[in-house]
Amino acid sequence: MADALLSIRDLAVSFQGREAGGSRPLRGVDLEVGPGEVHALVGESGSGKTLTATCVLGLLPVPPARIEAGSIRFQGRELLGLAERERRKLRGRRIGMVFQEPSKYLNPSMRVGEQIVEALILHLGLSRRGARARAAELLELVGLPGGRQILRRYPHELSGGMRQRVMIAMAVSCEPALLIADEPTTALDVTLQRQILRLLLELRDRLGMAVLFVSHDLAVVHGISERVSVIYCGKIVESGSRERVFGRPLHPYTQALLASVPEASRRGTRLAAIPGTVPDAAHVPAGCAFHPRCPLAVEKCRLEVPALLDYAAGPPGRAPAGGEAGASSHLAACHLAGRS
Ligand SMILES: Nc1ncnc2c1ncn2[C@@H]1O[C@H](COP(=O)(O)OP(=O)(O)OP(=O)(O)O)[C@@H](O)[C@H]1O
Ligand code: SF4
Ligand SMILES: [Mg+2]
Repeated sequence: MADALLSIRDLAVSFQGREAGGSRPLRGVDLEVGPGEVHALVGESGSGKTLTATCVLGLLPVPPARIEAGSIRFQGRELLGLAERERRKLRGRRIGMVFQEPSKYLNPSMRVGEQIVEALILHLGLSRRGARARAAELLELVGLPGGRQILRRYPHELSGGMRQRVMIAMAVSCEPALLIADEPTTALDVTLQRQILRLLLELRDRLGMAVLFVSHDLAVVHGISERVSVIYCGKIVESGSRERVFGRPLHPYTQALLASVPEASRRGTRLAAIPGTVPDAAHVPAGCAFHPRCPLAVEKCRLEVPALLDYAAGPPGRAPAGGEAGASSHLAACHLAGRS
């Protein structure tokens, strides 16, 4: 995508130290998010979703983590190696973030209004009075009418869904170009989940921001995303439009993930569980990391790492480096992709 908002190339991260044992949880992640696009990053637990988001936000703990290779460009600017002061300016101002558990990120001893007001003063330079008025508007925007009363409450005086809305209000307060939402609805019940997802889409439409939506839940991803990237053992194994990835998945891992999703029509029938488990980041299999679990694996799969290639227009061409994979591309990293 020539005009990608976010372009991650070949991002590799290792953890040093006795416990981590030299693990490489990211082994060359390639990911692009276009302006205004809702892009889902999906994969099983431990596949590197949060770590990828953490790198974009500049919140990776270095050490014990180390960035071994790669590049993260945001609005054309390289983020890796940027001074912390600059990273902090980007976070909140141009890149908003929402997490699974808002109470971890809201200060329990500060009224929520003050927290939003402080963020607005810090990032937008508003006066305290202006920031208060804007904070009330933001709460209305995220579906918390009567914002002024809520502003005076402490986080523990709000329900889980309300806290998540407050966190979203803070995240979009500066109208960021990119919102990173890491499992924002996983802790909520189904009705609240739906409401929050609808809210994120509404905000995207109103504010024109892109959303990198991190989730392990394919049903949720199907409902919200335009583009889907599937990650396995710290590498993207498939990426394409929602229609392509859900309708014609190319990678056996994506196919297995989809087969494990309960469909309304199949409720009550046995789910096809993927045999085996995600390998530990310190013991990633050689060749294609999925080969011990893949029903199609051949000798080559044990020896050679498959490249991420574009299958959108028939025979594959190498996925172009430097952030130029088109929005219509359908990438897969499998020696046998596109053969059937
Ligand atoms: N601080 C750390 N020290 C050592 N290893 C870590 C650290 N943080 C993450 N990892 C490792 O990195 C890998 C990827 O973790 P990550 O949190 O990105 O997974 P995830 O895809 O977000 O999973 P989940 O769905 O459970 O949230 C895991 O193997 C994890 O053990
Ligand atoms: S490269 Fe081989 S092991 Fe890996 S997903 Fe493709 S067929 Fe399976
Ligand atoms: Mg995670």
